[in-house]
Amino acid sequence: MPEKICLIDRYADRLPVGAGTPRLTLGEGDTPLVRAPFLESETGIPEVWLKVEGANPTGSFKDRGMVVAVAKALEAGATSILCASTGNTAASAAAYAARARLRCAVVFPAGYVALGKLSQAIVFGAQVVAVRGGFDDALRLARDAAQREGATLVNSVNPLRLQGQKTAAFEVCEALGDAPDALFIPVGNAGNISAYWLGFVEAARSGLATKHPRMFGFQASGAAPIVRGAIVEHPETIATAIRIGNPASWDLAVKARDESGGAIEAVTDEDILDAYSTLARCEGIFCEPASAAAVAGLRLRARAGGTQGLRTVVCVLTGNGLKDPDRAMALAGGLIEVDADLDAVCAAIGRPL
Ligand code: F0G
Repeated sequence: MPEKICLIDRYADRLPVGAGTPRLTLGEGDTPLVRAPFLESETGIPEVWLKVEGANPTGSFKDRGMVVAVAKALEAGATSILCASTGNTAASAAAYAARARLRCAVVFPAGYVALGKLSQAIVFGAQVVAVRGGFDDALRLARDAAQREGATLVNSVNPLRLQGQKTAAFEVCEALGDAPDALFIPVGNAGNISAYWLGFVEAARSGLATKHPRMFGFQASGAAPIVRGAIVEHPETIATAIRIGNPASWDLAVKARDESGGAIEAVTDEDILDAYSTLARCEGIFCEPASAAAVAGLRLRARAGGTQGLRTVVCVLTGNGLKDPDRAMALAGGLIEVDADLDAVCAAIGRPL
């Protein structure tokens, strides 16, 4: 069986890589684009598609950018990488560092990283440092530590990350035969919305698409600096992946919003959780809460008449639901346990199947 073509090879002509760049891969990219019939009927939009980025090797979109950043670090002779993270960047950095046999350290905001992500960083062998502070503190410290220690910083302030992540926009255009009318995406540190925009602009320029999508980004209302136009000192949201008060790619995200004729808006934690369980129960897709912010935004806009004229939209589901088992279990409200007896089991099942 031939191996899947690695992302670096597949897009070599559109990435800053050369013949000397190691073909590092864990099988990233080429993720499913899945139709969402329930959301289509709910919103009245003829085509709603979900880009399931949780199908990447470490369960999030970060792998696309990380493979390029780590391959280029290897090419440049680096021996160690470093990042700050709300969890997914760390899981991805740790995995690719393990594959490349590099040392990796990750800096987390203490107490605000989902269990799955923390366990990934640990099992891949990264040095895990939890700081008493938020993500913005962690990023500032990681930047300074990278400089002092001579390690390669692999946060999305490293432009190679955005280069890798733009490949998702190419895949969307390839799958649909053109760009969609609109893209709905969660916004945290604002790298991914910027990367998609970069990709869509390049897709249109190269003839892969005939148009650009409008870019609709969504922040959690307790962590919505771009929406408010001011840094949020103490961001709060159940969507810990996007609990960020001072996004590094703020200006690029605003540019994507304005050049595309889109918007960046806030969604409440309640809306996020509603979208999270609707995606699971009505579409059969388990994403993490931050990812559901994109769908929460789509539903909110649709209800307010803000999706008129859109025929084909794509929501980016950035991370896998298994990353955050605690959030899923909170929906259960207690498990039923009975004796190993047929009557007891049927009684517990309740209404006839
Ligand atoms: N969705 C998920 C699941 C994320 O992990 C992130 C960011 C985002 C959305 C937002 O993307 O930052 O490019 O705007 N996670 C980063 C991390 C901050 O450290 O893993 P963004």
